[in-house]
Amino acid sequence: MEKLTSGLIKSRINLLLKNSTYPQVIDFDQELDHFFLPNIKNYEKCISNDDPNAYGGLDTRALLTSYLDYYQVLNDLPVGECLIDLGAGYSRGTFISEFLGLSKCLSLEFVSERVNFSIDALAQHGGDTDLIQKRDLENEDIEKAYAYYLYFPKGDGLDEILKKLFFHAQTSPLYIYACESHGDLLIYLDSFKHLTLIREFRNSLPRHGQGIKKYRVGQGDIKISWKQDLSSWFLFNKKSQMFVVIDYYHPILKKPVEWLLDLGHLELIHYQDKLYFKDLHGRIIDIGGSEPIKRICGKPRDINLLISSFSSKNIRKILFDDRYLLEMNTGEIKYLH
Ligand SMILES: C[S@@+](CC[C@H](N)C(=O)[O-])C[C@H]1O[C@@H](n2cnc3c(N)ncnc32)[C@H](O)[C@@H]1O
Repeated sequence: MEKLTSGLIKSRINLLLKNSTYPQVIDFDQELDHFFLPNIKNYEKCISNDDPNAYGGLDTRALLTSYLDYYQVLNDLPVGECLIDLGAGYSRGTFISEFLGLSKCLSLEFVSERVNFSIDALAQHGGDTDLIQKRDLENEDIEKAYAYYLYFPKGDGLDEILKKLFFHAQTSPLYIYACESHGDLLIYLDSFKHLTLIREFRNSLPRHGQGIKKYRVGQGDIKISWKQDLSSWFLFNKKSQMFVVIDYYHPILKKPVEWLLDLGHLELIHYQDKLYFKDLHGRIIDIGGSEPIKRICGKPRDINLLISSFSSKNIRKILFDDRYLLEMNTGEIKYLH
């Protein structure tokens, strides 16, 4: 087999980026893994982790981004800027950047086995091992950089990451490159008015959505109103004990009332370019269409009084007519006297 030099790897990447089949990309990735991270497949098979976001033991073809795509992203960075790979797996981005002399790539990952394995392998190649670090991105700080790479599942962890990046972007421009993970990441990011799509790259391997998208994160104040950007507002306020009020025609009372939805019990859903809330009972509320948000309010004091007399799991809806009332799971209506 021909000795892999940086020049040879670069020319093969450029050829494959022009024209390649998926099996050719997979073969190339495996060849580079064999070179940089020998025995990675068998090593990964032994990783078990209780956190579903860790994807312990997953096939590396699904777990990791192709070297070709890291190459595209790193080449897109201005000279001297750094990419941070958020949830870096085996740090392929750092290997390719160190070996080919591309823009720097800092790899942050919370599964210590992957981190240790990658650090040892990078040391064998004389790379800068400070560029691979163990980090829980949901609960620990993330340093400020020019750009970030996300091949990451949607969920609370991602939301905590986005909040940190939105804070960083207040004072200087910042970019996110994102690869689809389960078919709901890119549509989620697209829903943020705070994120502007700049360009798209072709994925070298099949993913749930086509392309790696590059977004610019809005600068300036992140105290965005819900009318301006509901997704950003929800990201920062979902734990804030507020209530979303919508108009609702009540079929039992046979009249329009206000329905107060506890923000902490809602999930924001994006489907075909429209926004919906899903409540604790699985009910979908079409806030982007027939049931728009009327206003947002703090927790009314009277509600505490009313709710405390019942077990919250038995309450289906909090309503307001000329006074607060509760619709119970049984369908019965309870009034505040
Ligand atoms: C789909 S893999 C992508 C790996 C790598 N970025 C790539 O594209 O090759 C997602 C990675 O994120 C890591 N991860 C998930 N939650 C994390 C967290 N809270 N902190 C750090 N890493 C996390 C997982 O362990 C996994 O290695």
